[in-house]
Amino acid sequence: MAIKPVLRMGNPLLLQQARAITDFDSHELNALIRDMQDTMRAEDGAGLAAPQIGESVRVVIFGVDKNPRYPDAEAVPQTILINPTITTLSDDMDEGWEGCLSLPGLRGLVPRYRHIKYSGFDLYGNAFEVEATGFHARVVQHECDHLDGILYPQRIKDLRQFAYTSELL
Ligand code: NI
Repeated sequence: MAIKPVLRMGNPLLLQQARAITDFDSHELNALIRDMQDTMRAEDGAGLAAPQIGESVRVVIFGVDKNPRYPDAEAVPQTILINPTITTLSDDMDEGWEGCLSLPGLRGLVPRYRHIKYSGFDLYGNAFEVEATGFHARVVQHECDHLDGILYPQRIKDLRQFAYTSELL
């Protein structure tokens, strides 16, 4: 287990298209996921994508029990999601404040689809599918964006709604 440094916006690796996992339940994949879990826990994140710790592969983890970074947020099940696909189930979008471990200290108001279905594979290569709404759907969309080289500021509609958290409180 290891807590890895989180790459910050500007690092070219965060702008890459990550590659699909082809080998499941491998030593490398297990080690990567453990490092991601340790890092997310240490940084109090709601989610983390593999490229954020320097591995350009399509692996995200997320989950919120009771998170000091999101005191009002609904719980999100602890999930390991590999080679994800998102399907939107409605055109409705909601705006919500997001942060990202790759942009420490900042927040932005980001539109996301309210109702989605996501599918992918677990650590062992078992396919699964989950329907999600609200904050759960937002977290999944944010993390999966990382796999396509997209950081949340690229989604902000009004850049006046992009700010240092310390100035918003
Ligand atoms: Ni992020």
